Amino acid sequence: MTKRVAILISGGGSNMVALAEDMVGDHPARPVLVLSNDPKAGGLQKARDMGIATAAVDHRPFGDDRSAFEAALKEELDRTGPDIICLAGFMRILTPSFIAAYAGRTLNIHPSLLPKYKGLNTHARAIEAGDAEAGCSVHEVTADLDAGPVLGQARVAIRPDETPETLAARVLPLEHRLYPAVLRRFASGDRSLVTLS
Ligand code: GRF
Repeated sequence: MTKRVAILISGGGSNMVALAEDMVGDHPARPVLVLSNDPKAGGLQKARDMGIATAAVDHRPFGDDRSAFEAALKEELDRTGPDIICLAGFMRILTPSFIAAYAGRTLNIHPSLLPKYKGLNTHARAIEAGDAEAGCSVHEVTADLDAGPVLGQARVAIRPDETPETLAARVLPLEHRLYPAVLRRFASGDRSLVTLS
């Protein structure tokens, strides 16, 4: 049975595009919705150009009322009934109750070699720490931010004159290979680790 995938974005949606472009042919899943917390997210038009249904729930009118915002998100999601949720450049922190509603079937891509550098500014922190390498991780989303089981990782060497911008420019293309590879396995029930370099 083909798995229905909803992809949550906040910005350009380059990871969403990579996921959607891979979900063709014998792939066990198909994109059914691209949902953003920003009605102006550039990824929404890219999704529409790919023929994928889109929706937006602007988080700003909800202020600090996370549960009201997430109830509106959930309403949009339940309209299409996804089997799997992929966070892809989604920049809102989700509450444990929202995560519980989709437990075991929500993935996220994070631009660091987890468990190192949870949170933001990951590339700057890796460079600052003098790490030899950096990269990205796909993990299952749990109540602890960026701390769920890792399902895939891709690595790059950090160069002597590296900046966060040059590092991001080398990691992002790896994200676009890693996330589709992990989703393909995850959608077929395979949770074995994907590694790329
Ligand atoms: C990427 O670096 C991703 O790792 C992070 O958000 C950034 C933008 O992603 N989660 P996208 O281009 O919007 O997919």
